[in-house]
Amino acid sequence: MIRFYFTMVLVCISPLLICAQTTDMDAKIRELMSRMTLAEKVGQMNQYNGFYEATGPAPAAGDARLKYEHLTSGKVGSVLNVRGVDEVREMQKVVVENSRLGIPLIFASDVIHGYKTLAPIPLAEAASWDLEAIQQSARMAATEGAATGLNWTFAPMVDIYRDARWGRVMEGAGEDPFLGSKIAAARVRGFQGDDLSATNTLLACAKHFAGYGFAEAGRDYNTVDVGTYTLHNVILPPFKAAAEAGVGTFMNAFNILNGVPATADAFLQRDILKGDWNFDGFVVSDWGSIKEIAFHGAAGDLKEAARRAAIAGSDMDMESYAYVKHLEELVETGAVDEALIDDAVYRILKAKFELGLFDDPYAYCDNEREEELLYNEKHQEIALDMAKRSIVLLKNEDDLLPLAGNDQKVAVIGQLANDKTSPLGSWRIGSDDGTAVSVIEGLAAYEVNMSYAQGPALWRGNPSFVTEVEVNESDRSGMEEAVAAAKEAEVVLMVLGEHGFMSGEGRSRTDIGLPGLQQELLEAVHAVNPNIVLVLMNGRPLALPWAAENIPAIIEAWQLGSQSGNAIAQVLYGDYNPSGHLPMSFPRSVGQVPLYYNHFSTGRPTNQENNVFWTHYIDEKNTPLFPFGYGLSYTSFAYSALQIDDTDPNAVEVSVVVMNTGNRTGEEVVQLYIHDPAATYARPVRELKGFEKIELSAGEAQTVTFRLTPKELGYYQPDGTFVTEPGTFNVQVGPHALEGLQGSFEWE
Ligand code: BGC
Repeated sequence: MIRFYFTMVLVCISPLLICAQTTDMDAKIRELMSRMTLAEKVGQMNQYNGFYEATGPAPAAGDARLKYEHLTSGKVGSVLNVRGVDEVREMQKVVVENSRLGIPLIFASDVIHGYKTLAPIPLAEAASWDLEAIQQSARMAATEGAATGLNWTFAPMVDIYRDARWGRVMEGAGEDPFLGSKIAAARVRGFQGDDLSATNTLLACAKHFAGYGFAEAGRDYNTVDVGTYTLHNVILPPFKAAAEAGVGTFMNAFNILNGVPATADAFLQRDILKGDWNFDGFVVSDWGSIKEIAFHGAAGDLKEAARRAAIAGSDMDMESYAYVKHLEELVETGAVDEALIDDAVYRILKAKFELGLFDDPYAYCDNEREEELLYNEKHQEIALDMAKRSIVLLKNEDDLLPLAGNDQKVAVIGQLANDKTSPLGSWRIGSDDGTAVSVIEGLAAYEVNMSYAQGPALWRGNPSFVTEVEVNESDRSGMEEAVAAAKEAEVVLMVLGEHGFMSGEGRSRTDIGLPGLQQELLEAVHAVNPNIVLVLMNGRPLALPWAAENIPAIIEAWQLGSQSGNAIAQVLYGDYNPSGHLPMSFPRSVGQVPLYYNHFSTGRPTNQENNVFWTHYIDEKNTPLFPFGYGLSYTSFAYSALQIDDTDPNAVEVSVVVMNTGNRTGEEVVQLYIHDPAATYARPVRELKGFEKIELSAGEAQTVTFRLTPKELGYYQPDGTFVTEPGTFNVQVGPHALEGLQGSFEWE
């Protein structure tokens, strides 16, 4: 185990200056550790949730009192959910001034897609396929988060998933490991910047390691059982990309993976992460996930859970009280090797040094900066830009969109159209209810000639982060009024979907259609006026076959953050030409999930004999309603001249000409997929291996070239060995996973 402990020293082989600094930091960490008692070391591995008004008097009794005593006696290394400069400063002071060694705390929180100013939910941002914009959005989030005294965000979530029932699909980058890896790295760069000690950067955290997105039946926290082939090729790549981008921390996961709770999994945390990948940051547990090892039935009590987690490489215990209660004794009795504790503490202290907290524990505590950065026009512009890029145009029959102009009479229908909270999503720790620009407000800025009728309510009351949303299934009041408004209008704008608290953690659904009475409302309105633009607001792919068939124009507007209504209005009226493409397949029916484009072939892929004995459903197609990578524009693009150059023995170049064949400037996401039809292990029918977002003015053409190297052509065998095999490869270049020009080449 000693090899983990010395990672920092061993990496010092390149630039002398960095090496000197690292060695200097290494010496400081070792000197500090030499003065620490075992209890103090274990204390660094303990993380508590914020628990009292730090600026108020010290708590007198109960849990809060216990935590206070632990803070003052060096038994806490980090806290989460203590935010705001005053609170952070006060709590840091309690620790720095009262504990024996005064080791500063790291302050953590879930700064997921913004802090006060919210960008779109991460799934929506992924739809932009715009790595620069995504990086900039993470930069903005870090700037705001750090201005409130925070040092560490529990983001990015880099889980891959294939099941739209799972509520947390909103928090990641979709179903594809290639796109997911690029976005993981962009987010890490955005959060952490070049210098962790700068007061506008945050330590990032790649979560949830690993497999959490494969919860059976899409039910949150459920069992995960995937083989190592899927683990290595699908689940791990974005984590590896995050590690390579220098992410400072990992969070493990709530789930079991093949019978082992991820938090107790040494194969994941020690062999792969800290071993094969040489990750030199630290791993935090998920909330209470050490305690939950026992609930999974993989430990008899909290002490055994602590032992398993520590041995497996979980360096910090978030809110299980497992380490603080038991780790000292486990070391003293020889059940846990002290070298493992030293390894964990080294990693945690290293992060504190890198954050600059030993130079100044209050570096992030500046009231003026907090004031200035939290209400920031520039950040609203970034959020607006990101929101526009995240919108996906799903259907636009007869060029109904963009709308003609503001004298066209528009009936706006749906509770979500007037909602200033749902667009903020469910992860919005620092932002206030009711601070998003609603669709109605966005349209008002365009002076649209509109009437608004809510229709039957989608939800009742005031939904909260911790309780179930009460969906209205029975009260039809408002239906008639909505239908009447639709009758009077030239165009009907229906804003339907999910309340912001219907996706996210603990919010799985079995029915992924329009919840409540919205489908009925949509059909009732359609019966009197089919000239409908459907604006969808949701945190997951929805299955909407009727709408896809009958509604002429559909826009996927997710939950777009603070500037939601403005972004939607700009798209509706053509001031922004939509450029988003789906990062996750939209099914026709919930019965198809898990549904993903990069599936394998079966032994019976097609219907050859006109009988039932091939892979299919008797009541639904196999294909998605809208495939991965799909998204329209107000202009059109044509692909031609696919060329494959395989003269270089180390790489293959694939190029294509893309032309804007419409009459306005637009952006296209050019996507390259490969397929190895005869490998040792069956390979997916197609895999994204390159993409480029390009802007073309009307009539303009551009050649886009992709380079495929062994890295893109190879794959992991089930034992984790990476291989590139010779033989034929098929390529497809086009606008989404199911369409494109095709060719093939031989790889030797
Ligand atoms: C979530 C994590 C989150 C943590 C702290 C957990 O319930 O799974 O993603 O970072 O809480 O808020």
